[in-house]
Amino acid sequence: MRILSIETSCDDTAITIMEVKGGLQNAIFKILANVSNSQIKIHTEYGGVYPMLAKREHIKNLPILLGQALKKTKFPKGRTLRIQKGSTLKNPGIDLIAVTYGPGLEPALWTGIVFAKELAKKWNVPLIPVNHMEGHILSPFGKSKGRFAIPKIDFPILSLLVSGGHTELIFSKNWMQYKIIGETLDDATGEAFDKVARMMNLPYPGGPEISKLAERLRENGKQSLGDDSLGVLSQSPRKFSTENFLCPSPSLLPRVPETTHLRESIKLPRPMIYSKNFDFSFSGLKTAVLYLIRKIGTLNEETKSKIALEFENAVVETLVYKTIKAKEKYKIKTVIVAGGVSCNKHLQRQMKKAVGKDIKLLFPEKELTGDNSIMIGMAGYLNYIKNKKKVLKIDNIKATGNLRL
Ligand code: KG4
Ligand code: ZN
Repeated sequence: MRILSIETSCDDTAITIMEVKGGLQNAIFKILANVSNSQIKIHTEYGGVYPMLAKREHIKNLPILLGQALKKTKFPKGRTLRIQKGSTLKNPGIDLIAVTYGPGLEPALWTGIVFAKELAKKWNVPLIPVNHMEGHILSPFGKSKGRFAIPKIDFPILSLLVSGGHTELIFSKNWMQYKIIGETLDDATGEAFDKVARMMNLPYPGGPEISKLAERLRENGKQSLGDDSLGVLSQSPRKFSTENFLCPSPSLLPRVPETTHLRESIKLPRPMIYSKNFDFSFSGLKTAVLYLIRKIGTLNEETKSKIALEFENAVVETLVYKTIKAKEKYKIKTVIVAGGVSCNKHLQRQMKKAVGKDIKLLFPEKELTGDNSIMIGMAGYLNYIKNKKKVLKIDNIKATGNLRL
């Protein structure tokens, strides 16, 4: 069967057409076309995603991308398709449409849903609403090109989803069963990266920028934190991370000396690391960076890199620590790390070290870490074959911004 999948939950408009066969355990996918349009350049000006602007761009891009995707699949043979308002388009061989219906920005989600509904009605095919987070969990099994099959997987699976909107630890006893066992109480990981980057006047999205600075410093071997003559480093992270480190009072923060000594002194808390549950919190860490920057005043490039390095270390340490704790408690056989932040090199390295060789650790390929419609097509197909008889009426499908797994 041929699936057309649509993703518009945030600032990426994406459409995929795939040929799919097989059942839940042995599905085989072949990408026929995969096209997308990132709005990052447009949102950079605002330092974050501006929902109404995202909506406008999705509305503009969807018909263009559909035209490109259909042209790539060469259906119908040799004909150039024009998808314009009011024009009729015969079903070019699509059997099923999958669309993200949440979580995400509602105005953005609606654009994809309205578009998908129109096509599904015109082409008389079922429409499957897909939970974007389920897509991220399946993304490590996908490929951005060619053919791929869902391999045999040992359960239970633990998924760490880290993106601009989410930070969640999810337990799966079997395919398509999800239980959230931990999540962020405030900012998502990617959001914290973006906000800290903004404090240092780095462009949006901040995650890759912070990561670049931190990696460069690591590679240059400059991260040696000095003789600690100021006595700040000798205070263990424990001191700055109380049981539930949410919002630090300035007195809990490391004493920050003059800029000249900064290299030797930057230390940030590892939030919630000693809490007994699997929840996260990044707003305290973000506030700690804010106080630090206020005290320092003007940041030079070296100071920015030092802050980026310590911030990234703090975030990654926390994510890895909680994941390993959950892995042990739930006797996990496979660990998945997915979502936009999962392409972070330091996170990948540290997670590999911590998980060890006995447990399977899966990351998506780089092209599938961020939002994409391949993962939506995969999730759409698996849901369709699982619930064939319970396909929702097209008119009952609604955008659900705060949808949970
Ligand atoms: O999954 P995604 O593309 O969109 C959402 O659904 O949110 O994730 C985007 C987030 C942004 O916050 C971005 O800064 C972050 O992922 N990100 C990174 C890196 N690349 C992207 N964060 C840390 N390190 C990276 N290398
Ligand atoms: Zn996402």
